[in-house]
Amino acid sequence: MALTAPHQVGGHDCTPRMPRVARVVDVRTENYRTSTITLDVSTDAIPGQFAMLWLPGLDEKPFSFMGADPLRFTIAAVGPFSRAVHQLVVGDRIWWRGPFGTGFEAGGDLILAGGGYGVAPLLFLARVRRSAPRVVVGARTSDDLLLVDDLRAAGADVHVATEDGSAGSRGLLTRVVERLFDEAPADVLCACGPHGMLDAVAALAARKGVRAELAWEAYMRCGIGICGSCEHKGALLCVDGPVLSATMEPQSAFI
Ligand SMILES: Cc1cc2nc3c(=O)[nH]c(=O)nc-3n(C[C@H](O)[C@H](O)[C@H](O)COP(=O)(O)OP(=O)(O)OC[C@H]3O[C@@H](n4cnc5c(N)ncnc54)[C@H](O)[C@@H]3O)c2cc1C
Ligand code: FES
Repeated sequence: MALTAPHQVGGHDCTPRMPRVARVVDVRTENYRTSTITLDVSTDAIPGQFAMLWLPGLDEKPFSFMGADPLRFTIAAVGPFSRAVHQLVVGDRIWWRGPFGTGFEAGGDLILAGGGYGVAPLLFLARVRRSAPRVVVGARTSDDLLLVDDLRAAGADVHVATEDGSAGSRGLLTRVVERLFDEAPADVLCACGPHGMLDAVAALAARKGVRAELAWEAYMRCGIGICGSCEHKGALLCVDGPVLSATMEPQSAFI
């Protein structure tokens, strides 16, 4: 399997971008550990791109845009930084750099597959598309599901898969993706979620002979192609990714 960047905004632009301050204007609880924060700024990001969010004295971490006008991020509280973001209230300040990386090119008929907070950039994608995509939302349990109502409000045809069967189909979301594809083939499978899920979508795409655009995560420090901490299968995910195309052709040169 080869991975290539489908849509690179700004190419390998390594111009350092300075953090800009923004204020929190809304905080919405999505589930027991995930919230969406809205900031008082906007940018020209496309779905799949990310921003580096910075809380001075603590850390700086990458987050996918859930919306760009205004900036929105859907964040799971799993560690020190994400828990600190969850402590922010309306009026608090946070700094951000970006947009960085590649986004979904995603032409034609799409099936979107999102696991965990990977649903956030897919909601952004569903909202900017003219034609309503089919979307499969995967989670461990019904309590972990995210943004299902927003996707439906965006006009998407939403299907749910939970590992314990507490909502939707029982089992992995790739089985639902395969069923939908067999019912009516799509031009592109777009996915964002844990690496195991992305590997499974890539394998499914290869079996069906369909293009896949996959948003990968890695540990990121600089976000602009300097530090090398985000290397994944020979790509620097902050500039070559996070969205990479999976094809069966030999790996093309992107480094
Ligand atoms: C391109 C990109 C986009 C991202 N977009 C988002 C996003 O939209 N929303 C979001 O919430 N995060 C997103 N992340 C992850 C985010 O950058 C942080 O890694 C995450 O918030 C954890 O940081 P932390 O400092 O709070 O915890 P850390 O100290 O990094 O992690 C704390 C512990 O939690 C574990 N952990 C990390 N992530 C998870 C998880 N998802 N579920 C369970 N355990 C976990 C770690 O292994 C560790 O043991 C993205 C990452 C990348 C590279
Ligand atoms: S995060 Fe530094 S090179 Fe990608």
